Amino acid sequence: MSGEVSISGAKNAAVAIIPAAVFAEGPCVIENVPTEISDVSVILRILSDLGAEVKMLNKNTLRIDCTRVHKTVVPYELARQMRASYYMLGALLGRFHTAEVSMPGGCNFGVRPIDQHLKGFKALGAEWSLENGMINVSADRLVGSQVYFDMVTVGATINVMLAAVKAEGLTVIENAAKEPHIVDLANFLNSMGADIMGAGTDTIKIHGVEHLHGTTYAIIPDQIEAGTYMAATAATHGDVIIKNVIPKHLESITARLRKMGVEVTEYDDSVRVTCNGPLTKTNVKTMPHPGFPTDMQPQITALLTLAEGTSIVTEGIWDNRFRYVDELMRMGADISVDGRVAVVEGTGKLIAAPVKATDLRAGAAMVIAALAAEGTSQIEDIEHIERGYEEIELKLRRLGAQIKKIVIPDATTAAKAL
Ligand code: EPZ
Repeated sequence: MSGEVSISGAKNAAVAIIPAAVFAEGPCVIENVPTEISDVSVILRILSDLGAEVKMLNKNTLRIDCTRVHKTVVPYELARQMRASYYMLGALLGRFHTAEVSMPGGCNFGVRPIDQHLKGFKALGAEWSLENGMINVSADRLVGSQVYFDMVTVGATINVMLAAVKAEGLTVIENAAKEPHIVDLANFLNSMGADIMGAGTDTIKIHGVEHLHGTTYAIIPDQIEAGTYMAATAATHGDVIIKNVIPKHLESITARLRKMGVEVTEYDDSVRVTCNGPLTKTNVKTMPHPGFPTDMQPQITALLTLAEGTSIVTEGIWDNRFRYVDELMRMGADISVDGRVAVVEGTGKLIAAPVKATDLRAGAAMVIAALAAEGTSQIEDIEHIERGYEEIELKLRRLGAQIKKIVIPDATTAAKAL
């Protein structure tokens, strides 16, 4: 692969920032929104259903006016399609003191509890109940409080930040997640008049305010999309300039790639990735930010199958995030998994095969493996990939990849047509 690719706005920031627009007493203009990914379409459909006016000003800029939002129940059919629908709990609770959302969907990598979210809401004075798969939270008053998370959790940090933004007094979140999208959400809320300090550290302080106003705000570039193109470049021994990134957000990925013999040059808002020689083994352990991101674990594992020697990949966040390994093995990879540890015997090459995208980042790993493999691979269930990668087919094709999306008519439709 060679040439230049421009990175879209961050999915995991967009799916938190869009619900946060609920607080604005006036329109918000949000720029750099990855509008073509399905998780963003779903969260926008949720807001519209609740009564928001959503207008596309151009391909990546939205005007969202939540003044007329009146409903506080998120339809089951929409909520179950994505994990981040549960940010509507924090946002609606914060604005209306009541919210009802179904237990969320999203990628399947083991049990994904939400006890810390509920613990945080409770600390602010809310009650919660679960009925028919719907979580209901409500409060007479929301009062600032001390919230200590038992583990570092991105979702609960975001949800409690949302619920606390208009609560009376001071909320202090301890052991908070520090991911770039946490900082982005805090910056967005602050640009609307919120009073949030410390986002990006493990203690976030939120002084509740009475009113938040409309704003214009640009979402940060997607760290994981950038990392995925970096890994794909390395896998194909390419030379690619990856534009519209914040190199600081990529540091842990850059460090691992350099360890593997990949050259990464950082500029102000781009990185150049070049890979000329063989890839060398390295060990990777995923950790909360600023550690190596779990959302890059499948992609780096795919790359390590192409390296020389034995690498150990340890998953530090999720119990079951190696489901895709069987698919890589169909392409000739030699990987053994024991719980949260994968031992990758680098064979230096992969061979094309029909494979499945078992979830979003696993799908990205299949794309990387297929780009590097000898022959033509077919990846099924690409709807997972479309949840998080804007125009992946076009972007890769411009870099010289041979990739084509094929729509296979569903068997029942085909049968009816006969
Ligand atoms: C976010 O998920 C991301 N999703 C995930 O990215 C990412 O893998 C994850 O953070 C970790 O970085 C979005 O931002 C929409 P967590 P989230 O709460 O918030 C446990 C992708 O590919 N936990 O940080 O659901 C949990 O089981 C997606 O883009 C509890 O026990 O993750 C896990 O082991 C996939 N109780 C750990 O904490 C809770 O109440 C971290 O989860 C909450 C979490």
